[in-house]
Amino acid sequence: MTVPQITLNDGHTIPQLGFGVFQIDPPETERIVTDALEIGYRHIDTAAAYGNEEGVGRALAASGIPRDQLFVTTKLWNAEQGAETTRPALERSLAKLGLDHVDLYLIHWPRPDLDRYVATWRVFEQLQGEGLTRSIGVSNFHRPHLQRLVDETGAVPAVNQIELHPAFAQHELRAFGEGLGIRTEAWGPLGQGKYDLFGDPAIVRAAQAHGVTPAQVVIRWHLQQGVILFPKSVSRERMAANFDVFGFELTDAETAAIDGLDRGLRVGADPDTATF
Ligand SMILES: NC(=O)c1ccc[n+]([C@@H]2O[C@H](COP(=O)([O-])OP(=O)(O)OC[C@H]3O[C@@H](n4cnc5c(N)ncnc54)[C@H](OP(=O)(O)O)[C@@H]3O)[C@@H](O)[C@H]2O)c1
Repeated sequence: MTVPQITLNDGHTIPQLGFGVFQIDPPETERIVTDALEIGYRHIDTAAAYGNEEGVGRALAASGIPRDQLFVTTKLWNAEQGAETTRPALERSLAKLGLDHVDLYLIHWPRPDLDRYVATWRVFEQLQGEGLTRSIGVSNFHRPHLQRLVDETGAVPAVNQIELHPAFAQHELRAFGEGLGIRTEAWGPLGQGKYDLFGDPAIVRAAQAHGVTPAQVVIRWHLQQGVILFPKSVSRERMAANFDVFGFELTDAETAAIDGLDRGLRVGADPDTATF
């Protein structure tokens, strides 16, 4: 099973399909990430805020997989944004992960009320220059946040990791970012199980036509648009199925039917107003 590699605007590559560890209990994380690595996942998406970087790090170390075959993302928590606090936060994440660098470091949320993401980004550029992270990007940035970053720093993040699933397809934000050369990463790619995505007739019809599960259809829908994603599952069976998505292709008509599910249904926080 070969996962496509996507080339970012800084020349580095990222496996298009990875494994996310949000809400995986810290004591369970090593075992679950070990399962994911055994299945073949090589891209792990974590965050300081998830509290499970140590478990991710233990699984990576125990796997014996060469570092250059792994892609590890972590994220700076909102409280640590700023000129003085950003570097120590990445150093703490690296210590927990047991790594000397991550592949991608993200500003987790813009928190426009704090007004610190531009200062934070300048530190991100230094950390990248020193090799503590290969690529740098943002998460949950809306168009004005991206525009301000570009205007004030001249830099273009490698990725924007945003909530994205069939009922919340984010066409405008994606088109704006992608127009600048920013790749889109989907979080909550399966809608976090918060609405009946898998029972939707458009998804069920495609699943029946290809002899696959509804989740596999949704993952293909993301992949065929060039989106990077990392569905989360605590079940070895489901994580294996989520990775087994390269043996079929959705037709244009199936894709269009799933595109038709977009109704602006946000299941997570709104980045403009989030204050956590
Ligand atoms: N940047 C951000 O602000 C942000 C926010 C949220 C998430 N993320 C990242 O994005 C990753 C993915 O998003 P997410 O974890 O929020 O949600 P998700 O991947 O959309 O959904 C996970 C849910 O779907 C279930 N599931 C997974 N595979 C399934 C399958 N094949 N069939 C049926 N149910 C299935 C999981 O249950 P089981 O575990 O029981 O299988 C879990 O309840 C996260 O892990 C994290 O790395 C980032």
